[in-house]
Amino acid sequence: MRLQSYDGRMRMTINGVQLHYREHGPADGLPVLLIHGFPLCGDLWRDCLASVREDVRAIMPDLRGFGSSQASPVVEPGVAPPLSIAQFADDLFLLLEHLGESQPVVVVGHSMGGYVALEFHRRFASRVRAMALVDTRAQPDAPQKIAERHATAARVLAAGSEVVANAMAEKLFGPDEPRELRERWRVIMAAQAPESVAAALYAMAGRGGYLDVLPTMFCPSLIIVGEHDAITPVADAELMQRSILTAKLRVIPAAGHMTPVEQPQAFADALNEFLEAHATAATAHRP
Ligand code: MLT
Repeated sequence: MRLQSYDGRMRMTINGVQLHYREHGPADGLPVLLIHGFPLCGDLWRDCLASVREDVRAIMPDLRGFGSSQASPVVEPGVAPPLSIAQFADDLFLLLEHLGESQPVVVVGHSMGGYVALEFHRRFASRVRAMALVDTRAQPDAPQKIAERHATAARVLAAGSEVVANAMAEKLFGPDEPRELRERWRVIMAAQAPESVAAALYAMAGRGGYLDVLPTMFCPSLIIVGEHDAITPVADAELMQRSILTAKLRVIPAAGHMTPVEQPQAFADALNEFLEAHATAATAHRP
């Protein structure tokens, strides 16, 4: 029995804000939490869902401030509300609790969502059954990158999210992606609230990195990266693989930074193979 069609959106008040999320798959399926990147939303996973194993209960939140989820309350108009990657992780922990998933789940994080996934592991390791890190990195920002993020946040607050949307639309995709796909995602990025985009830029700048988390990860782990990823390149994925005892690496041909969107079938195949080997619904420990 299908729990929800993809379009069945739901909402829940978590840590004082209303979070939207979507679900796909059977209610008693293998719980897989899919965390989108910056400045995107849960729609990131839409194209690959049809190919993901049928025994998966996919839980796809819009992170606080993104998609249809409420932002942290604005303290001062035109100023980014305080936000951290840890706040995102705490929100997701509570979301899972409210959804009745108090057993370990498979966590899949794309780019900034990978930072959230690694922070989730740092805080709630016993709740991670397996981890897939997609087009992401574990290193902290260099000082120059931090300064750039702060400057971009100021520009976004002054001129809107198009500042980031236009710049990122060029970098997100591999060289052969059709213009319509870039435009579709440029529009989605431009529609995100400037205060949330700025807040997430500050949050990423302040995250401090996850190199210390990698050697503590003993759960089955998969690293997926697009061969043309220009934002978190293959070398970043290789570094994570070297530092996580259990990690396997899959480089997806003909993809850039948006692997689940650019190569949904290849992405789903890699995830399915990983789940088959390490975490099927039949082996999930359920209450
Ligand atoms: C993302 O795609 O989530 C971001 O580009 C990651 C980053 O800027 O570090």
